[in-house]
Amino acid sequence: MIIYVPCDSAALAVGADEVALAVQAEADRRGLAIELRRNSSRGLFWLEPLVEVVTPAGRIAFGPVAEEDVASLFDAAWGASHPLHLGRPEDMPFLQKQERLTFARMGITRPLSLADYEAHEGFAGLRKALQLSPAEVVQQVLDSGLRGRGGAAFPAGIKWKTVAAAQAAQKYIVCNADEGDSGTYSDRMTMEGDPFMLIEGMAIAAVATGATQGYVYIRSEYPHAVATMRSAIELATAAGFLGEQMLGSAHSFHLHVRMAAGAYVCGEETAMLESLEGKRGIVRAKPPLPALSGLFGKPTVINNVITLASVPIILARGAAFYRNYGVGRSHGTLPIQLAGNILHGGLVEKAFGVTLRELMYDFGGGSASGRPIKAVQVGGPLGAYVPESQWDIPLDYEAYAAVGAVVGHGGIVVHDDRANMARLARYAMEFCAIESCGKCTPCRIGSTRGVEVIDRIRDGENRPQQVQLLRDLCDTMVHGSLCAMGGMTPFPVLSALNHYPQDFGLPV
Ligand SMILES: Cc1cc2nc3c(=O)[nH]c(=O)nc-3n(C[C@H](O)[C@H](O)[C@H](O)COP(=O)(O)O)c2cc1C
Ligand code: SF4
Repeated sequence: MIIYVPCDSAALAVGADEVALAVQAEADRRGLAIELRRNSSRGLFWLEPLVEVVTPAGRIAFGPVAEEDVASLFDAAWGASHPLHLGRPEDMPFLQKQERLTFARMGITRPLSLADYEAHEGFAGLRKALQLSPAEVVQQVLDSGLRGRGGAAFPAGIKWKTVAAAQAAQKYIVCNADEGDSGTYSDRMTMEGDPFMLIEGMAIAAVATGATQGYVYIRSEYPHAVATMRSAIELATAAGFLGEQMLGSAHSFHLHVRMAAGAYVCGEETAMLESLEGKRGIVRAKPPLPALSGLFGKPTVINNVITLASVPIILARGAAFYRNYGVGRSHGTLPIQLAGNILHGGLVEKAFGVTLRELMYDFGGGSASGRPIKAVQVGGPLGAYVPESQWDIPLDYEAYAAVGAVVGHGGIVVHDDRANMARLARYAMEFCAIESCGKCTPCRIGSTRGVEVIDRIRDGENRPQQVQLLRDLCDTMVHGSLCAMGGMTPFPVLSALNHYPQDFGLPV
């Protein structure tokens, strides 16, 4: 009998290791031979630890399983009579309605098994890339329409083309795994659950651009991701997928992990480069673009984990396959992360075009509190609060921009009707004041003044004048900040003010 217990840190946080030990102990006590496998999580977090047994009808899931449930699961012979029985994972509506391309292996394979990875299309993209010329690889990524999943949605292929065309003895691929946005975890899941996919994506980027060194910059709060990526790099190097002459080709690529120091601003790409170079994470002025003068002054591809992890399937199945998912100029799929006050928090990979209402109700099951949902922050702490009147807008970079919102890294944080939006607007300014790198005045000083002005509005001190002052301040921050930290902090502030004036003591 084969039993799967996830080893993703979301599962570990709710006792997956204890459940795994209990399963083995109970099997030993009963004299049953089992093979205990530690898989990645499928991203149905409200059901973790989600334990699966292999049967002739496929894998059957049970969850959420506690240590105390294990004996009764054996008593019931892991059958349908047990109250935690969920059936086949792929038949569960939460998974059935998804379009998993990047997350196709998630929950199915063992993260550090090269055999599992290769048995599920792993390294097909790299093998294909090695049959093409570097320019053809870049063209595939351009044709796929893949845009950066870290926040700015810049076309990945254009960045790669710039680095490929640059003349330099040394080029780098840097993966941004700082994942600082509130309610986001798709980068973490990828690194802990399917690390070879990210390695493969980075190796393809190296083939396309001529880079020979790469770094994965991982936030320090992700110790499991750091450990898994380090082990995966060792395994991939030993098996010839990385290192000198990858898979017998003329391309060499060496990959390293660097642990971040834990500042939100170090996710900004130029602050990240400073940090990688061993300096304090302060934003650099652009130009020069990192693609031309990046890490240690050399041409550098900087991409988010999900951007790079989307590349293997593009190469393996062709640009057109990927491009055909999505709407408008938003091609492919996005791993969306449901968080905050939501009943079924978890990872939903869907083609662009899905609506917030579908995500929150069809997938998320509504609020966890059972109360009406009031506001949703999409795209991290610098993203706008989206009111109900906008919940039917298709998730699409351009459609969101048209209403002053952002898709960002796909994080969705849900608030119920008890949320006070003036308090959340104050928090946005406070967050900026704490996390600002301090290089430019609109952000460094503006965020502190913003907290004070919102406090005066909340206290009812000369409200109309203070609201005008807040709007002027936001205008200065949007147009005068050096990077999006100060430039986007007004998004949550102004969306809260415009859509929920009553929370600021203003007439509706
Ligand atoms: C304050 C700030 C924080 C950011 N944090 C992240 C982050 O944690 N991860 C990330 O991939 N991009 C982050 N970005 C965006 C990066 O600057 C950059 O656009 C991205 O890494 C490029 O990769 P992509 O094109 O694949 O999205 C941040 C930007 C700003 C302004
Ligand atoms: S906007 Fe803020 S984080 Fe960005 S450079 Fe200016 S001070 Fe630094």
